[in-house]
Amino acid sequence: MIFTVAIDGPAAAGKGTVSRAVAERFGFAHLDTGLLYRAVGAKSGAEGDPVAVARRLEPADLDRDDLRTAGAGQAASRVAAIPEVREALVAFQRLFARREGGAVLDGRDIGTVICPEAEVKLFVTASDEVRARRRWIELSGKGDTLTEAEVLADLRARDRRDAERAVAPLKPADDAVLLDTSELTIEAAIARAVAEVEARMS
Ligand code: DC
Repeated sequence: MIFTVAIDGPAAAGKGTVSRAVAERFGFAHLDTGLLYRAVGAKSGAEGDPVAVARRLEPADLDRDDLRTAGAGQAASRVAAIPEVREALVAFQRLFARREGGAVLDGRDIGTVICPEAEVKLFVTASDEVRARRRWIELSGKGDTLTEAEVLADLRARDRRDAERAVAPLKPADDAVLLDTSELTIEAAIARAVAEVEARMS
């Protein structure tokens, strides 16, 4: 069975949590596409040319411990605005999306560019303040010393760059279902996403 769930949205809206839960529930493979850009950003910091790094990216590059930091998120957002970097990562993502057995991909352009034919498209959002609080709690738990206000400023800067870039900007596909998680528990957000997949499968 070929079945793609495309989950897009801004940083820290809950995409990752919802994606992992949907994948587990239906036995689908999951790809966090932000990790690809984070790995390119981190590696090109040391090696230079992000386009060359993107063309040579390997699965082992996604295993680095330092890809989840706020700095890695900003570096990812910068290299993600380079058209040749995005192009180098398209084929892998498309193959993953249409693999046998079902796939969930989360990112910014999955429903619009990578897999416009996805069977289910969700655009997961939450208010800036709610997203900043969640991300701040997550980063603090890892020992990061950023303040909540700094995390908010960081998210806003990244969203602005992601939404304003010329190629594959962050925006909902015309046929995406909007899921605002500001007032939802994790369980409720997952239940909504699962219901969308079930509705499309039956
Ligand atoms: O989802 P994330 O926070 O790990 O993504 C990090 C950055 O990578 C994000 O700010 C923009 C970029 N990105 C992208 O441009 N397209 C995607 N499909 C996924 C991430």
